[in-house]
Amino acid sequence: MMMSRKLMLLSAVAFGGIVALSPGAQAREGQDAPATTADSRARDLLSHMTLQDKLSMVFTIDGGGTMGNAPIPPGGLGSAAYLKTPAGLPPLQISDAGLGLRNPSHVRPHGQAVGLPSGLATASTWDPDMARQGGAMIGAEAWRQGFNVLLAGGADLTRDPRGGRNFEYAGEDPLLTGRVVGATIAGIQSQHVISTLKHFAMNDLETSRMTMSADIDTAAMRESDLLGFEIAMEVGHPGSVMCSYNRVNDIYACENPYLLTKVLKQDWKYPGFVMSDWGATHSSARSALAGLDQESSGDDADARPFFREILARDVREGRVPTSRVDDMAQRIVRSMYDVGLVDHPPVMQPLDVVTDILTAQRDEEEGAVLLKNSGNLLPLSPTAHVAVIGGHADVGVISGGGSSQVDPIGAPAIGVVKGPGKKDWPGDPVYFPSSPYRMMQAEAPSARLTYTSGADIARAADAARRADVAVVFVTQFSYEGMDTANAMTLDGNQDALVAAVARANPRTVVVMETGNPVMMPWLDNVGAVMEAWYPGSGGGAAIARLLYGKVAPSGRLPMTFPASPVQLAHPDIAGVTANSVFEMQFHTDQELVYDEGSEVGYRWFDHTHATPLFAFGHGLTYTTFAHDGLRVAHHGDDVVATFTVRNMGTRVGVDVPQLYVRLPDGGGRRLAGWQRVTLAPGESRELSVVLEPRVLAHFDEKHDRWNVPSGEYRIWLGSSAVDESQQVTFHLAGRNMAP
Ligand code: BGC
Repeated sequence: MMMSRKLMLLSAVAFGGIVALSPGAQAREGQDAPATTADSRARDLLSHMTLQDKLSMVFTIDGGGTMGNAPIPPGGLGSAAYLKTPAGLPPLQISDAGLGLRNPSHVRPHGQAVGLPSGLATASTWDPDMARQGGAMIGAEAWRQGFNVLLAGGADLTRDPRGGRNFEYAGEDPLLTGRVVGATIAGIQSQHVISTLKHFAMNDLETSRMTMSADIDTAAMRESDLLGFEIAMEVGHPGSVMCSYNRVNDIYACENPYLLTKVLKQDWKYPGFVMSDWGATHSSARSALAGLDQESSGDDADARPFFREILARDVREGRVPTSRVDDMAQRIVRSMYDVGLVDHPPVMQPLDVVTDILTAQRDEEEGAVLLKNSGNLLPLSPTAHVAVIGGHADVGVISGGGSSQVDPIGAPAIGVVKGPGKKDWPGDPVYFPSSPYRMMQAEAPSARLTYTSGADIARAADAARRADVAVVFVTQFSYEGMDTANAMTLDGNQDALVAAVARANPRTVVVMETGNPVMMPWLDNVGAVMEAWYPGSGGGAAIARLLYGKVAPSGRLPMTFPASPVQLAHPDIAGVTANSVFEMQFHTDQELVYDEGSEVGYRWFDHTHATPLFAFGHGLTYTTFAHDGLRVAHHGDDVVATFTVRNMGTRVGVDVPQLYVRLPDGGGRRLAGWQRVTLAPGESRELSVVLEPRVLAHFDEKHDRWNVPSGEYRIWLGSSAVDESQQVTFHLAGRNMAP
């Protein structure tokens, strides 16, 4: 049930009261969290700071690297934000780094960064260890270039496969998102660089993102979007959390006491600090009391610099207790000690570019998803005559636009494709100079390979007709600030191109470089389809190696590919047809009622019995696997599924057996666990997976706890969310868990 707007407001006011507790009461609340060295070191340092010093920590200034025309502040490196800290602490050099260090070349012409594939590619690996390695790569590049706070760690759920920033995130499932994004954060922070879990919360669409209210029943939010953040927080321990632009149940996220204080700081016992998104602070006392700890780029991004003179006056005049300022500063300094910013300050040095590109390449090799492979068209024979067509594959691979954009290593010397882009923001798509065509030539040096741009469809079809196999690259630009068009079709002439090539040669492989699912009207007429997402700095090599079978595909979809937008919980995104991204961001003020609650993505498809084009969890490889012997046992409160996986083919391969459960009281099935396993031909292995307890539970808002209902649970073991081949039931006695 949706909580009424009025009721939500009342609860928010009540939670607002909680934040204004006396310092003594605040200390009592923190008592169950063990005191860490970072906590006590921060407390010691703060005991020598003046109120003015503490206030100076809660307001960062434009770093001269992203928005507007602000100059680089003295001491800054030219990035998203900068903070000159008091008391001998190192300054905060804050940079975007969603998929690699954002390092605007106009600011730092000598700076360099390697771009990982999109977040969806990393999520498609279902491999937290790979995510951790990618994070460590970004963190090390940042540290070697002087940055110590990264705005990485996007964990918003794909509630709509048209979300303009889905490519930065980790898909539609909270467990997968939490584990993958949490591992990325842990990787970044292993390099003594703070990572930021963002955008908290429900910033799942770009349309009207600055003003829209995501309206959702709070228990459903705890079981979906917030569960993703909660798990990411447990896994990654981010030093900071960024509150988002949008409103949640009417209240701006950055002044939302339910989100920032009740959920994050009280229920999840988060010890770090909350920073605002750039332009997401709308007040001083209200935000401070709700739990915002630092206003980002406040001199430039927000309507007024709220956390400077205005906050100082609010403190002086008693509207904000000094204990709140103490708490804000404590949280910031604590994270600095905890992650190692003070003890291990950045040391400027060259990057290990070769190793870093290999990390990006491995991520793409694990994350590309083989969607279709009729008659084993793939892998390609190294002697086949191949017509490579379209997608600027002769130059490189496309990347997503916006604040996660990496200025790729090698550009512009090797070539950046111009257009079609957007005039104001974010400009033309950037192609990373990692050419799949050239790398395919390197994989098959004695074969005949040709490249045709695809601009002339007849010419492309002709090239396909003369070849043994055609490989068509299609690209779709997604970017921050704008959702994909409602119809979800490929831009320009690309559908016509694929259809014509497939008519000329049915041995057609389509490689998709997209930020989101697209419609595939030509699907039945092509032999193979690989979703390569945005492939990153090692993308060309990864795609070539996958196509030629040097490495077997092992990605599994982290989001459902719908057969039609009509199947979605919200078939249209209102306002998405508007032309100007800035109109979309600032000029509307809509309510988006997520009445599907926690039935997101594949759960919605299960709930509505809709058949997707490709299911969540789907992904093929060059061998096949059999699953057998599913059984469930209890070890204390742990529920453990055990089963056997066997490689049935003649090639080594990676399987990702997945476990989905349905609760006794119904609802869509939920991913409760998985395992990624590499098996030699004929090899079999018994695996045991502990099911995530919160996935077996409902959030009980009234009693503020998780409630595992008593009864019969159904569990499926399979290779996607619609695989019904192995299923059993098991009984659980009801129990409650603290949030
Ligand atoms: C984005 C954030 C980003 C920030 C700083 C905002 O527009 O939403 O993700 O970190 O800008 O560039």
